[in-house]
Amino acid sequence: DWSMESFIELEIEKIRHEVGDKKVLCALSGGVDSSVVAVLLHRAIGDQLTCMFVDHGLLRKGEAESVMKTFADGFNMNVIKIDAQERFMSKLTGVSDPETKRKIIGNEFIYVFDDEAAKLEGMDFLAQGTLYTDIIESGTATAQTIKSHHNVGGLPEDMQFTLIEPLKTLFKDEVRALGTELGMPDEIVWRQPFPGPGLGIRVLGAITEEKLEIVRESDAILRDEVSKAGLDRDIWQYFTVLPDIRSVGVMGDARTYDYAIGIRAVTSIDGMTSDWARVPWDVLEKISVRIVNEVPHINRVLYDITSKPPATIEWE
Ligand code: XMP
Repeated sequence: DWSMESFIELEIEKIRHEVGDKKVLCALSGGVDSSVVAVLLHRAIGDQLTCMFVDHGLLRKGEAESVMKTFADGFNMNVIKIDAQERFMSKLTGVSDPETKRKIIGNEFIYVFDDEAAKLEGMDFLAQGTLYTDIIESGTATAQTIKSHHNVGGLPEDMQFTLIEPLKTLFKDEVRALGTELGMPDEIVWRQPFPGPGLGIRVLGAITEEKLEIVRESDAILRDEVSKAGLDRDIWQYFTVLPDIRSVGVMGDARTYDYAIGIRAVTSIDGMTSDWARVPWDVLEKISVRIVNEVPHINRVLYDITSKPPATIEWE
């Protein structure tokens, strides 16, 4: 009969048998799926595994550091961090259409991964966090195809790798159980979904460093307060978005003319539909006060009270 322990034992045996003394490359994003794959592979083959983590400059505050700390320091894995911020930024400058931004980010990820993988020698296998749902969903036109859904982690088709996909029979809740069984911390196992294009689709319209910084800082405050209020497990996804709106405010004696920031917080089962989260007003108040006080160029905070449908979860 099926248990998580026997699944792990069996998968480890299978992986060892298939890989032998060869080497495996894994694209680590810090998300649940790729993290669980990496830890499972590491359990099976140790140093024969190399993980590559691409920092595209569209990550949340502290994310790159936390991935390195968890996997390189904590799990003692070989993790190579690629600093590709400039490559992505130079391609994105002046681009305002959401789908074009997604395509640029998705393609650039593949180019960067390709370039960096070519520098590594003797990698025979590529490990990916494909889930059962990814397999059954691809090819069917779901509501999600309204957006092109570039998952950073989509990889070149002409690569000379043999694929290893140890999660491909599992559903999301099983992947989380597997992660926990493998000793992974709750912050990773229960991490909220984060889109591949990252903050790139949370700065609406053309991306600038200044706008990225505003989203990054306000998002960090939101996450901090949601966590302090103990709401992180109740809210399915929560983040800030920066629309291209400026409005008048007053600070001290002076008139301001600055950006408004939006807060999006939703409850959902699978992201296909969602409702706006009834975050307590006192929590929203703390978040609003902190954002306006701590993030330069924000003088107004908005709360998104739209369900999906008709809105989507992300604003782009
Ligand atoms: P929407 O905005 O379509 O989002 O209601 C549903 C879920 O999908 C995530 N999302 C993405 N994930 N690449 C991804 O990997 C994308 O381009 C993308 N767009 C949206 C979104 O964060 C939510 O969890």
